[in-house]
Formats: sequence, structure tokens, C-alpha cells
Amino acid sequence: MGELVVGLDIGTTKVAALVGNVLEGGAIEIIGRGLAHSHGLEKGVVVDIGETSASIRRAVEQAEKMADVKIQSVSVGIAGRHIKSINNSGTVSISRDNRIITRDDVRRVLETAQAIQIPPDSQLIHVIPRQYIVDGQDGITDPIGMTGMRLEADVHIVTGAITAVHNIVRCVQNVGIGIEHIVLQPLAASYAVLASAERELGVALLDIGGGTTDIAIFRGGDIWFSKILPIAGEHITNDIAVGLKVPYEEAERVKKEQGSVRVDEISGDERIEILTIGDEKKSIPRSKLAKIIEPRLEELFDMAMGEIEDAGYHDLLPAGLVLTGGTSLLDGICEFVQARYNLPARRGKTPQGIHGLRDIVESPIYSVAVGLLKYAVEQRERQDLYGPRTRRRGSSLLAKIVRWLNQFFRG
Ligand SMILES: Nc1ncnc2c1ncn2[C@@H]1O[C@H](COP(=O)(O)OP(=O)(O)OP(=O)(O)O)[C@@H](O)[C@H]1O
Ligand SMILES: [Mg+2]
Repeated sequence: MGELVVGLDIGTTKVAALVGNVLEGGAIEIIGRGLAHSHGLEKGVVVDIGETSASIRRAVEQAEKMADVKIQSVSVGIAGRHIKSINNSGTVSISRDNRIITRDDVRRVLETAQAIQIPPDSQLIHVIPRQYIVDGQDGITDPIGMTGMRLEADVHIVTGAITAVHNIVRCVQNVGIGIEHIVLQPLAASYAVLASAERELGVALLDIGGGTTDIAIFRGGDIWFSKILPIAGEHITNDIAVGLKVPYEEAERVKKEQGSVRVDEISGDERIEILTIGDEKKSIPRSKLAKIIEPRLEELFDMAMGEIEDAGYHDLLPAGLVLTGGTSLLDGICEFVQARYNLPARRGKTPQGIHGLRDIVESPIYSVAVGLLKYAVEQRERQDLYGPRTRRRGSSLLAKIVRWLNQFFRG
């Protein structure tokens, strides 16, 4: 067996763990999967460490059993309303005689670019270099070895609440596992569902899960914007439970099996059976269910599109929207988005280079976990290529925090 990578997606409704065997050329064969109901999170944020740890343990044990391995460390996703993101840039001059740009210059320029005011209760999660500019020439992805007098870096900075990051670390450590990377969930998902042509052209990824809708916008291959909204599938289920007067579990079942946003297309004769709170069977028109779902989905997408518009990206998305997360399975959702916002929309698909359990991990509920595997492999390749000193500043900084926390919680 080759090297292993493990992706752990701690979602509001489920915890998913995937074990990947890294094949020659960076392809990944998924050899283990664990899936557990998630307890202890609200809107993407840990609110109960004990419950969350127990959910993680269940998912991890299942994945270990299937893969017949012991999981040592994982790459884990993070989301929640506390996440903030901002674009920034930094400049340094190259004053040596030969003016050849070194790793150290890149480190210096990234340090300058990340010098923003961060509230005292927040910390850096990512500093993602979008491009380097050498003496005015832009679009450079790796300036090391080039000659110039002035090096600039454009970066996308993601920060999060210290408590929220610590809680994730703590929950994973409670299960006796180390952390390799902490990754913004929609960034992870983008590795699983976006084609590179879409990232180049301009695309918005929407991961619509149970508790949060996560937005990430890519242009020219890089991330430009990210935002986590606290509304998603659980709100739709709640509306159905209230609207149809059924228990939450029944609302969830009806939504998944019969839910739709094609209000106008559902014939008035089409009826579905529901189980009311008093355990009574009742037949209702299916259009009634769609009429409950539609306004909540409108609210959700209006909110998301409002964010995209406010940030100035609405007209910069030729590749439109790519939807993922469990709620993207709703019947008619892509057509609904296309008609309402006049933008192309498609559901995300598991990418090339992923083998094993494809029929399972193809479901959009796994896009974050699959993306975490790809992210981890890419980071390892980068490290092999450039050595540890050029590791992206954001991840190495976070690695330091994680190391510190490791010591703290053990000590
Ligand atoms: N076929 C379906 N139709 C409609 N909704 C669905 C379907 N399947 C799953 N869902 C919904 O998707 C949501 C779960 O999606 P997902 O697993 O992506 O969320 P999560 O990762 O646990 O949560 P989050 O990312 O918000 O923290 C639930 O609200 C569930 O009801
Ligand atoms: Mg999720």
C-alpha cells in the first residue's frame, strides 16, 4: 500500500471520514469510508465537544475497519459564521545584486501580505497566494528563480474564531488522532467538484449542507471570495415539519424522497403519503410540499446571490454556479437557479483521479471529505517539490498552532 491520506468532514448533520491510498501520479483510491450522524454541532460550529468527539469516533472507527488501517492523522474541514475572508496584497523589494527571487523573498512577501488587523478573538486559517507580480508582470504562480526588483503577492486570507478552531482540534484529539491540515470547507469541496476550466473562467461554488451554505468564488484559477451563511437543509426540514404538522424525522424523509422545487410542473393530482404527529397516515398533494420548500430555497439563494453581488462578482461568473452538499440533491434545484438568476448551474461531480467507492462518494454529501483528500495530496506534493521551507505560510502557521495545542492538551 502507498501513502495514506484521510479526510474528515465534521458537518452539522453527519461526520464523514474517508481513507485514501495515494497512487502513483497523485491519483487516490478510496479504501475506507465512515459515516455517522453528527451530534454536537450547530450551523457548522461545535457546541458540544463530547457529542462531537463521539460522532467523530464512530465515523473514524468505521473507516478504519473498512480500510483495515489505523488512522494517525486527518485533514479536517472548518466552517461557520465566524469565518471571515479578505483579499490583501504585499510588496517587498529585492535588493541583492543578482536580484534573483528566493524562497526567503516569497516568505517575506507573504508575511507582508498577511499583515492585517485580526480581531483578538480570531486567528489565521489560510493565507492563499493568488498570484505574484514581479516588476509589474502579473499572473505569476511561482516567482522563485525569476529576476526582479519588486515582488508583490496577492493573497486571499481566511480567519476564524480561535475558540471554534480550538474546539475542532480538541474534538479530533479526543479521538486520539493528529491533524495534518485544517481547511475551509468550501475550499476543500472545490478540490472535489470544480473543473480547472471553471476555476479559470469564473465560478461560484455553493455547498448547501444541513446547517450552512458555504460560498467560494474562483477566477483565474484562484479563490477570490468565501463566505459561510447560516441557512441550509435543516431550515427546509423545519419548515416542512411545521407546515405539514409532522415530526422532524418524517419531514426529513418526505423532503428527501418527494421534495422538489418544480412547483409549476407538479400536477395537481399527484399525491403523497405522510405520517402526522399522531402517527396517522394522511395523503396530501405533492405540490403542497414543493410550495413549502420553494420560498425557503428562494430565501437561501437570494441571500447567497446577494453576497455574491455585494462583493461585485455577479457578472464575473461565466461558468455560473456549481452546487454541492446534500441539499443540492433537491429535485429541480439547478433549473430553479438558472431561471431565477439567469446563470448556468450544475451539480458537482466527483472528479477524475478518484478511484474506489466511487458510487458512494459521488454523493454531494462527500464533496468536502473527497476534497480534503485531494487537498492533502496536493500539499504533500508541493512540499516534496519545494521542501518544508516554502510551505505556504498559512498552513505552517496553523501547523504551529496545532502543535502548540497538541502540547497544551497533552500537558
Ligand atoms: N435527496 C435530498 N433532497 C433534499 N435534501 C437532501 C437530500 N439528501 C440530503 N439532503 C439534505 O442535505 C443535508 C445534509 O447535507 P450535508 O451532508 O452536505 O450536510 P452537512 O455537511 O452535515 O452540514 P453542513 O455542511 O451544513 O455543516 C440535510 O439537511 C439533508 O436533509
Ligand atoms: Mg458539509
